Amino acid sequence: MTDQIIYHIAPRWKRTRYCGELRPSDGGERVVLAGWVKKVREFGDLTFLDLWDRSGLVQAVVDAKRPGLMELFRSLRAEDVVAVAGTVVRRPAEMVNPQMATGEVEIAVEEAEVFNRSKTPPFNVSDKAKAGDDLRLRYRYLDLRRDSMQRNIRLRHDLAMNVRRFLAGDGFLEIETPMLVRRTPEGARDYLVPSRLQPGRFYALPQSPQLYKQILMVSGFDRYFQLARCLRDEDLRADRQPEHTQIDIEMSFVDEEDVFAVVERMMAGIFGELAGVRLDAPFRRIDYDEAMARYGTDKPDLRFGLEIVDVSDLFASSGFNVFREAVRTGGVVRGIVLEEGLSFSKSRIRKFEELVRRQGAGGLATVSAGPDGIDSSIAKFLSPEETGTLAERFGVGPARPGLVMLVGGPADTTAAALGALRSALGAEYRLQDAADAFSFVWINRFPLLLPAEGGGWEPAHHIFSIPLEEDLPLLDGDPGRVRGHLYDLVCNGVELGSGSIRVHHRALQEKLFALIGLDRETAEHRFGFLLEAFEHGAPPHGGIALGVDRIAMILGGESSIRDFIAFPKTQKATSLMEGAPSTVERSLLDDLHIRVIERSDGE
Ligand code: AMO
Repeated sequence: MTDQIIYHIAPRWKRTRYCGELRPSDGGERVVLAGWVKKVREFGDLTFLDLWDRSGLVQAVVDAKRPGLMELFRSLRAEDVVAVAGTVVRRPAEMVNPQMATGEVEIAVEEAEVFNRSKTPPFNVSDKAKAGDDLRLRYRYLDLRRDSMQRNIRLRHDLAMNVRRFLAGDGFLEIETPMLVRRTPEGARDYLVPSRLQPGRFYALPQSPQLYKQILMVSGFDRYFQLARCLRDEDLRADRQPEHTQIDIEMSFVDEEDVFAVVERMMAGIFGELAGVRLDAPFRRIDYDEAMARYGTDKPDLRFGLEIVDVSDLFASSGFNVFREAVRTGGVVRGIVLEEGLSFSKSRIRKFEELVRRQGAGGLATVSAGPDGIDSSIAKFLSPEETGTLAERFGVGPARPGLVMLVGGPADTTAAALGALRSALGAEYRLQDAADAFSFVWINRFPLLLPAEGGGWEPAHHIFSIPLEEDLPLLDGDPGRVRGHLYDLVCNGVELGSGSIRVHHRALQEKLFALIGLDRETAEHRFGFLLEAFEHGAPPHGGIALGVDRIAMILGGESSIRDFIAFPKTQKATSLMEGAPSTVERSLLDDLHIRVIERSDGE
């Protein structure tokens, strides 16, 4: 069937209603609907068409009394774009489809118009048949028509609106900051933009608006926010994209508690409105050191217990060399207990041992306690009393069976190993399902500095954060022990946000720059404008940035932020739909004073 090509919508084909909103109370109304064909079915002398738009599906029907229309319907294929005009009628009782929001009605079609036909789609546009990731990204416009993607993108919109309403209502001003900025590295690699007008010079794309928001505080714009696009050239993961969006917040004359209170109220509003759950504020707060000791990570999933227990004292003089040495050299022995573990086979335990080894642990020792008594993989090195005490410390015994899994070594590798083990066990036994859907916690008092690869120090978060007052004296002698007013908001094991109270004095900021190995000249060259601003009346200030993509992911109950970004990048930071990055004409490069060096390996 050849269609007449329709370039413009004639007035009589203007849509009057959305498909998904029609209900029995609309019976008798003459409507014009426009959308995409999902399915055509023939049933006796009736032909049915499922028509879809952003509001949902409705069934349209034509009978044999309109042979021309019937023929048109039969020629339609999934994803063709049509309009139908007809009357909303109630379906006979036996035809009601309770699965569909519009299942009690259908449209008795009198006329139809084909706006555009679709090629056969490369995959079935439906949540039931999810295509491979590459295909979904290559044809993102089709993938976005799926119900779940429509829901996700709408959820993200609702989230952004909720945030804007809340913050504006709370006296925050939304202020945009530049996208072409001076390169002021914040941990990741920068995306660079060559300047045409200044040969050999480059802008960077902002990793975050960090310095601008601090400068806005110096300018008196206390209570700033921005839904800020941030760009980072870093290795990607399920919760990391090269472009992400932050709810960026900065406030003056505040301490941590003031920042927490704003974020808690904002989160309670978001999760109340968009997930229908009540969040109890204040959220829990756990010191970084405690989080590492009890959960082995600074992003603990607190929907389940499985806490790490320290038993270093029991091994200080034990017969088990490995653990005794670990403790003697300043390390720890810690473990977790799992009731279900008692039935683990040897090969299963070996699998967990491999897991902890991958995190740098030397191995995994076990103690099993059950009706048959207490046994241990290291029993021959311990006295029966020692094994008994060990079991007791983990609360297991003949009456309360369980398997204790122990790791010994330096505190950081032990934490990483047991943290990974805890997550793996939590996921395997679906321990998180039993508890609250959303478990929020603030992790605070992070170390200000971490040992850098190759010696020296690097900021744990960023170098603009202020040390705890009581730790200030350690800056000179023992910087590794200085804790900062640094905090992360964590939910269900995902870091949703991160912030700090900032330095607002030049001398202290310079001292911190020096500690991370920036000499005076480099610090001045990179951050001179900030240091200068601090000398012109900088108020005490602090703030936070929360990841919009990650909050949407948690709200939507998914595990990848990609499903909440309309046009995300692949693992290799490419965009498969339009093909980015791409090569560009030589003349453009000439304008930018850039020459591309071909690599001999052909890449
Ligand atoms: P940070 O770098 O921790 O802090 O980022 C804050 C929050 O932004 C989100 N996020 C990301 N989301 C997706 N993809 C990424 N690549 C990505 N990187 C970060 C996370 C994270 O918690 N300027 C500071 C904030 C401050 O101190 O106020 C900053 O950007 O949810």
